[in-house]
Amino acid sequence: PKKIAINTGGGDAPGLNAVIRAATLASEGRGWETWGIRHGYRGLLEPSEGGLVRLDRDRVRGITYLGGTILGTANRGDPFKYPTRVEGQPALMPVDRADELVARFRDAGFEALIAAGGDGSMRIAHQLLERGLPRVIGVPKTIDNDVVSTDMTFGFDTAVGIATESIDRLHSTAEAHERIMVVEVMGRHAGWIALHAGVAGTADVILLPEIPFSYEPIVEKIMQREARGRSFSIIVVAEGAVPQGGQITIKDAGDAFRGVAVLGGVAERIAQELAARTGKEARAMVLGHLQRGGGPSTSDRLLALRFGAAAVRFLEGEGKSGMVALRDGRLVLVPLDEVAGRIKTVPLDSDTIVTARDLGICFGDELP
Ligand code: F6P
Repeated sequence: PKKIAINTGGGDAPGLNAVIRAATLASEGRGWETWGIRHGYRGLLEPSEGGLVRLDRDRVRGITYLGGTILGTANRGDPFKYPTRVEGQPALMPVDRADELVARFRDAGFEALIAAGGDGSMRIAHQLLERGLPRVIGVPKTIDNDVVSTDMTFGFDTAVGIATESIDRLHSTAEAHERIMVVEVMGRHAGWIALHAGVAGTADVILLPEIPFSYEPIVEKIMQREARGRSFSIIVVAEGAVPQGGQITIKDAGDAFRGVAVLGGVAERIAQELAARTGKEARAMVLGHLQRGGGPSTSDRLLALRFGAAAVRFLEGEGKSGMVALRDGRLVLVPLDEVAGRIKTVPLDSDTIVTARDLGICFGDELP
């Protein structure tokens, strides 16, 4: 292609700027022209807001280590349900504007899009191809690590690092006060962050969306620790963890669209319940967007740079679309429909779960 576009959509993840820089430099090195679309697809659907940015060597200088995305992102930017002012309606309404988007993309002379995003962005990219977008190469981004077909997404390592450091820090205050500390980390559908940070941070209990929990084993674990003279406990909970037979209502992507304030809450409820059941003091702490803020870890930088450059290499051949994926250390292109709208959850027999059980960590599903 002679002219390509890059966008970043969905929740940001440390490493997005590294993807942008690598893709821009790899593209420039091939003599192609590179543009960034501002805020997901908003830059094309609402061009009056300064929608497109020319990306070249100068524009991407010194951004590898920066958090966020120089292009901006959008949580409500699905072009198939784009928030649009409709006459006679007080609120913005979801309108299918995919055809308009594809027409503008083509009119601008773009021959391919590099889309950095999670499962939702891959679904959108796949649907846009069906509507006539010429080519898309997806780049798997999310701190949650829940994109299928790739061993890892960038942003995950950084988030795990922040969560682990937080858990380390909570140990001393928990011990000083002889408290139960319940730490909520991100992960609506998959418990990758909770599992990895929980094991690395030597949590006593880890609660994941993949393993519905009950309170009895958790209380038992806390009491066993008490009996051994350990009067504090650290519980790491993924925001999407659910009690057995029950359901905790958590935020979903649609909430943003409905203008609903999005709050954590799982940790608070668990802390209250554990305090009542153990008679101990309990505190809840939600790490929230701290896990997404700031620059990428070294390994996320490297992965993001590799993904960005590979996206351009995959555009060299004729006609191929797909998502860049890390498989056993190598970067391959996988079909978008293999990824679109699916979630990679933690396998219950994964080595990290088995290791955690060997270490005596409780998942709330069986008595310790
Ligand atoms: O998908 C990434 C993620 O970090 C989820 O773990 C989290 O639930 C969500 O984004 C929150 O995003 P926001 O507050 O931007 O809607």
